[in-house]
Amino acid sequence: MVEAFKIIGGQPLKGTLKVEGAKNAALPIFVGTLIEKGTYILRNVPNLMDIRTLIKLLESLGLVIEKLDEHSYKIENKGITNLVASYDLVKKMRASFLVMGPMLAHEKRATVSLPGGCAIGSRPVDLHLKGFEALGVKINIEHGYVEAIADDLKGNKIVFDFPSVGATENVVMAAVKAKGTTIIENAAREPEIDDLCNFLNKMGAKITGIGTGTLIIEGVEKLYPCEYSIIPDRIVAGTFIIASLMFDGEIIVDGVVRNHIESFISKLEEMGAVFEIEGNILKVKSKLKDLKAGKATTMPHPGFATDLQSPMMTLMCLVNGTSEIKETIFENRFMHVPELNRMGAKISADSSTAIITGINNFSSAEVMASDLRAGASLILAALKANGESIVNRIYHVDRGYEKLEEKLRAIGANIVRFKAEI
Ligand code: EPZ
Repeated sequence: MVEAFKIIGGQPLKGTLKVEGAKNAALPIFVGTLIEKGTYILRNVPNLMDIRTLIKLLESLGLVIEKLDEHSYKIENKGITNLVASYDLVKKMRASFLVMGPMLAHEKRATVSLPGGCAIGSRPVDLHLKGFEALGVKINIEHGYVEAIADDLKGNKIVFDFPSVGATENVVMAAVKAKGTTIIENAAREPEIDDLCNFLNKMGAKITGIGTGTLIIEGVEKLYPCEYSIIPDRIVAGTFIIASLMFDGEIIVDGVVRNHIESFISKLEEMGAVFEIEGNILKVKSKLKDLKAGKATTMPHPGFATDLQSPMMTLMCLVNGTSEIKETIFENRFMHVPELNRMGAKISADSSTAIITGINNFSSAEVMASDLRAGASLILAALKANGESIVNRIYHVDRGYEKLEEKLRAIGANIVRFKAEI
């Protein structure tokens, strides 16, 4: 039995949606507390399944973690007591692989289960391992585990073939206490990387080039624990902006950092969207019928974010004309296409390009989420479709959207969670 949402769509929605802390910044920053002993306080942490999963893993490694309130935690690192991150924990969430960098920085050795692939792709970690080896780490892979060991971590120059978010985070965390300086060329530039680097610098690390594709990490002897507040989640913000555009601007989005999603905002403006942004509050001043078809290609930051590809596709289904989306980051990230087509969408797609012909409205149907962003895109469609829709496997959505049904109910949505067969 897994949980599903029953949504009676077609109702007008009106009110404010508040954006929580960024999942993909909170995860690496939590992991960063492994690097140095001491007591840390993290704030604006989103209340998500993935955070709870990571906390279990970090506790299995020896950290003592106390929840201070819904969005704040105290982490006590009195030393890592277990150097093995086991498969049963890592398989639940691939981001667990990020513990390797900090464990190498702290103990110069680590054994971490290879993360599985997932629905959207094979998700290899070759770039992570290439980075560690450049720092002098010996890597041995057997029985589904990566064993890493180093006499000393030495700074080096690393050039990534692809600006991998996870590989950049893992190698930065391994390099902060290495002997000498590490230069990472073609580093990922996502705002969550900046947040991790700012957190590490607050701990006393010496990282420059933050926000550029070249990170320079001058190794230091010791770091110190700190207090830190996580940035807002730009993907949740983008998802809520799509909802507002679908409901004629009746939804205000609180927690938008425009320069975190500049390419997304400008793409929507190209399609005729009109925004009013004051501080972190975004209002939509255009109507759905004013929007016209657009073309988008997912790219590493600062390009159009792959995590906003499926919510954008839901919107494109409802605008006049023929839109196009190209997915260049993951090899299998169109699983929401057949589900949206079950709801009356007109999308034809191959493995990397989707052509979307505008329709009047979705028709309610039973559908299934395949990953957290695809799940969000189906929920958006169900909120618009007249009648009762069911979105199955919403555990995917719980991983990345805090209290989504409560937030949607508060703005007028008819949505309930129930236990379903599939
Ligand atoms: C992070 O995943 C995010 N997850 C993903 O968000 C996001 O979609 C992705 O970055 C891209 O922005 C977290 O931050 C926890 P990558 P990550 O390494 O680090 C290939 C969500 O919805 N690659 O930049 O795994 C890889 O196969 C999730 O919140 C290699 O080939 O992304 C993929 O095709 C989904 N070798 C591409 O790079 C490697 O060693 C991007 O992966 C590493 C990656």
